Amino acid sequence: MDEERLVSGWKRPDDMDLDTSLRPRSLQDYVGQKTVKDQIGLFVTAARQRDEALDHVLLYGPPGLGKTSLAHIIANEMGVGIHTTSGPAVERQGDLVAILTNLQPRDVLFIDEIHRLNRTVEEVLYPAMEDAAVDIIIGKGPGARSVRLDLPPFTLIGATTRAGLLTSPLRDRFGVINRLEFYSKDELAIIAQRAADILGIVIDQEGAAEIARRSRGTPRVANRLLRRVRDYAQVRADNVISLPVAQKALAMLEIDNSGLDKTDRLLLTTIIDVFQGGPVGLDTLAAAVAEEANTIEDVYEPYLMQLGFLQRTSRGRMVTNLAYRYLGMDVSENSVKPL
Ligand SMILES: Nc1ncnc2c1ncn2[C@@H]1O[C@H](COP(=O)(O)OP(=O)(O)OP(=O)(O)O)[C@@H](O)[C@H]1O
Ligand SMILES: [Mg+2]
Repeated sequence: MDEERLVSGWKRPDDMDLDTSLRPRSLQDYVGQKTVKDQIGLFVTAARQRDEALDHVLLYGPPGLGKTSLAHIIANEMGVGIHTTSGPAVERQGDLVAILTNLQPRDVLFIDEIHRLNRTVEEVLYPAMEDAAVDIIIGKGPGARSVRLDLPPFTLIGATTRAGLLTSPLRDRFGVINRLEFYSKDELAIIAQRAADILGIVIDQEGAAEIARRSRGTPRVANRLLRRVRDYAQVRADNVISLPVAQKALAMLEIDNSGLDKTDRLLLTTIIDVFQGGPVGLDTLAAAVAEEANTIEDVYEPYLMQLGFLQRTSRGRMVTNLAYRYLGMDVSENSVKPL
């Protein structure tokens, strides 16, 4: 991949240095997500054999599961350049037209948070994705006319945490739609170990497994916990992350055995104590715990649902019996829940 271009003037909105340094560079380095990797690997090989651009790809799933990493890897494996931007960063149609007309043949255009593109800008993408063309208006008033400009063949990679918010004309134009799943503990342990190697952190297998266990199925969380545990190991334990060191450090950070933090637990106990276990509407719940509704929906809920602690129903959010038990609370004292 052309590293120079990756960092040139093009906006790289939410990327922190650490994400960049720990980002896997090839499909082979990319741990887990086997189905997605197999598919993408096949499509990339086929497109390369035909010397064509890869079909447009939509990646969706909760934050920190590796959408941005995968977009860069796809460009890398295709041997093409990547231009990155994000939904909120593209304000006018002209901005997007300028980006599109500057692409080299077969380049990747990565649009993060693609569900936040505004509608008029989004309309530019329809002919661009379908016919590799954009329609621009030349002149003003009665003399104005529409001219169609051909674009080089390119691959749009869209990433979103909210596939449900995409309009159907946009969604329908993606040839490949992949949902990223939460990672297994074994996969996260490999990711933590790999990050430790890159950062020069000494960690043993059990230490890595412990961090993995509490990382909510999410590589970014594993990397973040690793750094915090390293701080602890440096100050309190000869710089080596072993099982007891990891356990003590994570306890200090108030992250429990299932990876729940204070906010997760507050969410569950609020639904139980204030709303009798639910159902409670998202906005009401958000106000009660003083969090953004978006954050609850994107960050907290997916993992709580994955653990089977929370249900989304048409009437609102409900806590499950499993969650009562996990929190050591008596189900019968509260209302009886299904499931
Ligand atoms: N499959 C993976 N293998 C190894 N490391 C990974 C993998 N996926 C993600 N990571 C690590 O997690 C970090 C976050 O990944 P990335 O930025 O790609 O997530 P994202 O899905 O784009 O998140 P967001 O929705 O917040 O933009 C990366 O820097 C990388 O270190
Ligand atoms: Mg990202």
